[in-house]
Amino acid sequence: MCGIIAITTSMKKPVSKMITTGLKRLEYRGYDSVGISLIHDGKIHTLKDKGQIDLVEKKLDLRSLKGTTGIGHTRWATHGPPNKENAHPHADCTGNITVVHNGIIENYLDLKQYLLKKGHKFSSETDTEVIAHLVEEELKQSDTSMKVIHAFKRVITKIEGTYAITLLHTAEPETIFLAKKDSPLVIGVQDDIKFAASDIPAFLEYTKKVIALNNGEIATITPKTVYIEKNGFKIQPKTFTVTWTVESAQKSGYPHFMLKEIHEQPISLRNTMTINSKKIEQASQMILNAKKIVFLACGTSYYAGLSGFHQFQRILKNKPVYSVIASEYQLYSHLFDKGTLIIAVSQSGETLDVMKAVSYARKQGSDLISIANVIDSSIPRLSQLSLYTKAGPEIGVAATKTHTAQVLLLARIILQLEFETGIIDVNKFDDYKKQLSEETPRVVRTIINQNEFKAKRLASIIADKQHSYFLARGKSMPVALEGALKLKEISYIHAEAFPAGESKHGPIAIVEKDFPVIMIAPNDWTANKILGNAEEMRARGAYIISITERDHPIIKRSDYSFIIPKAFSSLIEPITYVVPLQMIAYYTSVYKGLDPDKPKNLAKTVTVE
Ligand code: AGP
Repeated sequence: MCGIIAITTSMKKPVSKMITTGLKRLEYRGYDSVGISLIHDGKIHTLKDKGQIDLVEKKLDLRSLKGTTGIGHTRWATHGPPNKENAHPHADCTGNITVVHNGIIENYLDLKQYLLKKGHKFSSETDTEVIAHLVEEELKQSDTSMKVIHAFKRVITKIEGTYAITLLHTAEPETIFLAKKDSPLVIGVQDDIKFAASDIPAFLEYTKKVIALNNGEIATITPKTVYIEKNGFKIQPKTFTVTWTVESAQKSGYPHFMLKEIHEQPISLRNTMTINSKKIEQASQMILNAKKIVFLACGTSYYAGLSGFHQFQRILKNKPVYSVIASEYQLYSHLFDKGTLIIAVSQSGETLDVMKAVSYARKQGSDLISIANVIDSSIPRLSQLSLYTKAGPEIGVAATKTHTAQVLLLARIILQLEFETGIIDVNKFDDYKKQLSEETPRVVRTIINQNEFKAKRLASIIADKQHSYFLARGKSMPVALEGALKLKEISYIHAEAFPAGESKHGPIAIVEKDFPVIMIAPNDWTANKILGNAEEMRARGAYIISITERDHPIIKRSDYSFIIPKAFSSLIEPITYVVPLQMIAYYTSVYKGLDPDKPKNLAKTVTVE
């Protein structure tokens, strides 16, 4: 997820200041590099560098750029490390075209090969740069009469994936070319000035009149005009007026970043599944060649790894697989030697406990695969293979979309292992790959839509409680552990997760009337056992909350149930079952008048021991 802004005006004042300010309003969308391009005297002038906007603005004096038409970008790296070369905007070979983009071009490698064969020279590792060269190539191949808009439209038909694009061409110095698919792109309108941006905060202080572009729409803006079309047909722009403050607009109208990020999960899951298959195949080979596997992580990321651990044990049968909390690594130092493969899971890629553990393991000769959300962060830099979730920046301290993205990325690796070990054939493999990337986002969207109001209502019932239990069996335990952590860390209600069968070995002693017990209950081999655990809790007066599926017998014995659609594969249950728990924790925190984005005593990245 990146932040883009574009401005064109007939007012004789440089837009560099407005672009820079707009990028600051979008910094929560990405902050590892920044750049702007303006057209002045028929030429494109671009300044860009690695680093956050304040740093780059001072270092390059961004506001010094002249010109009344320009584009800007603050990056969250998905392709290519965060450095100056990969910072947007990106130009074509002639320098007459410049482009910024938010999203992921899934077929960029094929397009890049085609362009390289045509003699184009690239200066970055990004997917975005192909857009500029494609427009250049279209214009080069056509007769001189082709207008930029026609070349632009032809290019859009060639790119696959998600995108919000703004592009400039010196041939039309007052025009900005726009295209949108899945990534957000809105237009701000005011007399003599037009804006385009990833999000309304970028221009909210200049205008509250907004046009939201829809998927498949292509548009142009000039100081006086807005033109939109779809499939060649002109679209009448629909303007609406926002009443948000800048701060609420940065949350796209959500009251908190955490709720926004819970709702972003369908797109973050879809983007994560655009990972290059070659990297998954490489991971699978490293796993199959390793003598033993050790998952290493902390907190929510540890629970994602635990889901992978259970599945690895099922598939790799005779290969020893371990799951170690990174701060406890000394207890397992005997595991780290040559032939051991570490799988480190860390959204920030900077957690010191994980850094110390993986540094030690590497010194002992272990190999390292990292799963991170921040490209080129410290832990990936120690890895032989870095696999990236593409969840975009996560501002809420409590991990939500990065967690489910980690689980889905592990599920994709597990699927590769099932195929390569002959558990599934190529047809099932192809079908499940498609389901992982297309069905999972759809199911999560359904779960959010069908259960959000129930989570909100349940919050009012449990908000005054001091204690709670999260029970599960078998491979659902990581979900119970994550659900308990979520409730603890943002609503401050003590929550303990343990295998349901353990209740009678002690924990049930504290259960009394209305004691909330959340039970993770997929309708599988555990169904009757988890039902029995619910009965023993009910017998002590517990308030039973089940996260379950239609037809599960626990529903009749629950005081409150969330019904989860039957997943096409148990590989995604750690995703589908955790989403209601994220919402329960969020709404309980809000009901108690707390700030779920900034829980006390916690930091988003834990760089202390
Ligand atoms: C997330 O909700 C927690 N705040 C925390 O446990 C976090 O998952 C843990 O600190 C690990 O962070 P990482 O994924 O950046 O390594």
